[in-house]
Amino acid sequence: MAVAGLAIVGIAIAAIPPPPANQDLGIYDTVCGEFAEEDCRACHSSGVPDAHHMLVQNEGYECTDCHPVQTDPDGDTGVEVIRDCVVCHESSPHHGAQEAVDGHCSHCHGSFVDDYDDGHMIPAYNPSLITPDTSFRALDNATDKKWGGCEACHEPDNKAVPAIYSNPDTHHNLGNLSLECDRCHGNSDENLLNIRKCEECHGVKSLHNIQYDYASTNDQPGYGHVGDNWDCTGCHAWYVAYNDAPQTGPIIPGITQVSPARIMAGEETVVNVSGTNFQTTVGGINYTSDVVIDTGEETITLSPDSITDSEIMVTVPALDSGRYGLYVVKSEMRSKLVTITVAPPVTFDSSIIVGDNVVISGAGFGEYDSSYNEYLGVIIEPGTAADVVDCTIDSWSDTRIVVNCPDARIGDLTTVNALYGKLSKQVSPQICAPPEPVTPRIV
Ligand code: HEC
Ligand code: HEC
Ligand code: HEC
Ligand code: HEC
Ligand code: HEC
Ligand code: HEC
Ligand code: HEC
Ligand code: HEC
Repeated sequence: MAVAGLAIVGIAIAAIPPPPANQDLGIYDTVCGEFAEEDCRACHSSGVPDAHHMLVQNEGYECTDCHPVQTDPDGDTGVEVIRDCVVCHESSPHHGAQEAVDGHCSHCHGSFVDDYDDGHMIPAYNPSLITPDTSFRALDNATDKKWGGCEACHEPDNKAVPAIYSNPDTHHNLGNLSLECDRCHGNSDENLLNIRKCEECHGVKSLHNIQYDYASTNDQPGYGHVGDNWDCTGCHAWYVAYNDAPQTGPIIPGITQVSPARIMAGEETVVNVSGTNFQTTVGGINYTSDVVIDTGEETITLSPDSITDSEIMVTVPALDSGRYGLYVVKSEMRSKLVTITVAPPVTFDSSIIVGDNVVISGAGFGEYDSSYNEYLGVIIEPGTAADVVDCTIDSWSDTRIVVNCPDARIGDLTTVNALYGKLSKQVSPQICAPPEPVTPRIV
């Protein structure tokens, strides 16, 4: 049930040296329909329930639109909480976004790709023998090993879970985007597979900065583009390049997970971001990262409270409820974009005994229905005895919950498990209103 602390897939395979390439950076090389729940959660690790529950307030959704009510043979009702994203989201919800239509793929994919209009360098000379091919330039007949192009390492693997798709398949399954052939191809048959077109998104600037865990792999083959000379020759065939690949610098940072799973409006929150390449030293220069929150209207750059190569702790200032983007940036090299959702505030003012009832006051308790009693409700625990006091919900509104609970005592701990959060407070004595002043009656 716990949504926090999910370990993210990606390190599922380890083919060193490739092909297929590992799947630790960027997006898993597959098509949308093959994504498993945890692949979606890799970027939506924070605030998935809240993102949906805010649609009730903001878009008029009903609880039952997403949680069908079921009746068991005894006539008791309950709901099923479906958690697998792709049960409800069947096709790519991302490539119709305005940034995708505008060709600004880096908005979500980060600096793993360049944008066609960001001014990055594309060589003006005709492709030479060292220019990588869109697929490959040389084949070693003895081993079937390809050299000199993307297919030296990026090849499909239908035994991986989820299956790794080929480069044409990953690029040809992006909905309407994939119908615009000239984004990626030249406009004549001979020119169809033209690396210069690929370089509009895969320029030297991004390609020479892709390496997983640079600090430990910068002299090893198979973990990216700029480790061992073997990597260089993967793209540049037999050409043994200089020691340094031009424009190699900060190395693109990667995010695997963001926690906590819930961030509340109006509160400062310490957020933990885990990933790779948050700090690197390349060519004697130390590079370090900041965390950026994208509100849609502006970006807020935050310096980490603490940082290692694989973990950042950062204090996110109080935000209004809503959905935000988060990425890590290191000398202008951006990780992919992940989402965080800030839930509406929940406050708990008091829990008071009134006769046989406990009256709970506060704000933001959200909605309740007995079908959800497995997930939502009130628990009253005595400070001394171990047993939870037996109570039933009498009424529930956004600001006031009444529980029938004859055995509750002052000092017991009341815990409200509400849609947007869980809060506890001790039951306190009723503070009575001062008596009405008595006006003497003159007879
Ligand atoms: C690489 C990270 C990443 C992965 C993986 C990912 N998402 Fe997203 N998703 C995003 C980002 C970022 C946004 C918001 C884009 C923005 O704010 O501009 C988003 C937005 C969405 C939206 C809202 C679209 C809209 O119209 O506003 C839905 C729905 C969604 N994702 C579902 C999914 C599902 C289902 C999966 C798994 C198949 C998934 N996501 C995998 C990053 C990701
Ligand atoms: C637009 C779809 C949608 C609507 C509408 C919706 N939910 Fe949910 N709800 C979800 C999804 C998806 C999850 C699972 C989230 C996860 O696993 O991270 C969920 C989870 C839950 C959970 C379990 C929380 C947990 O993590 O254990 C409860 C309780 C719940 N919803 C109650 C409600 C109630 C009450 C309403 C109406 C006020 C409601 N939901 C409306 C989609 C929705
Ligand atoms: C029970 C069905 C259901 C499940 C399961 C579900 N969603 Fe959704 N989700 C919806 C519906 C319905 C909407 C609203 C329509 C839309 O944007 O597609 C929605 C909207 C969203 C949004 C946009 C929210 C906004 O602010 O507009 C995101 C992001 C999202 N879902 C991500 C996910 C992710 C990630 C998972 C899995 C962890 C998931 N959903 C599981 C039904 C579901
Ligand atoms: C709103 C965020 C967003 C934008 C903008 C975006 N993508 Fe994606 N892209 C994703 C997410 C999330 C996935 C994985 C889930 C899916 O397919 O929806 C993905 C998957 C892919 C994949 C397959 C995965 C892989 O590693 O091969 C390719 C290729 C791709 N996108 C290309 C593009 C191109 C080209 C553009 C720009 C024209 C673009 N994307 C813009 C979010 C985005
Ligand atoms: C020498 C092997 C090799 C060659 C050749 C190669 N790559 Fe890679 N590439 C890798 C490895 C390894 C990774 C890191 C995979 C990971 O850990 O996620 C990677 C990652 C990437 C990424 C980051 C996103 C992702 O899916 O992981 C992009 C984009 C990329 N390569 C594009 C290309 C392009 C374009 C070409 C051809 C011009 C190419 N690569 C050739 C090995 C190679
Ligand atoms: C987002 C980028 C992208 C778009 C858009 C795109 N392609 Fe491709 N295409 C690729 C990639 C990457 C390859 C693999 C190149 C290679 O292996 O040499 C490819 C390969 C091909 C091939 C070689 C045969 C094969 O499938 O391996 C043909 C033919 C082709 N594309 C035609 C098209 C046509 C026609 C369109 C428009 C309907 C189109 N492509 C749209 C990226 C794209
Ligand atoms: C419009 C932008 C765009 C163009 C043009 C483009 N790609 Fe990509 N390519 C992407 C995106 C986005 C990804 C996904 C990166 C990630 O995993 O986050 C990608 C990923 C890749 C990868 C890494 C493996 C994978 O699937 O993630 C290879 C290899 C690749 N592209 C080859 C090519 C080749 C060859 C061409 C030219 C035929 C080409 N691309 C043209 C945007 C583009
Ligand atoms: C993923 C593919 C890829 C990998 C791996 C790669 N490069 Fe490159 N490199 C390129 C591309 C693309 C160019 C632009 C050359 C062109 O288009 O003609 C380039 C250009 C160069 C150039 C400039 C060539 C010139 O004469 O202008 C040098 C030098 C170079 N790379 C060295 C390296 C070294 C050293 C490594 C390994 C540490 C390396 N490259 C790894 C793709 C790659």
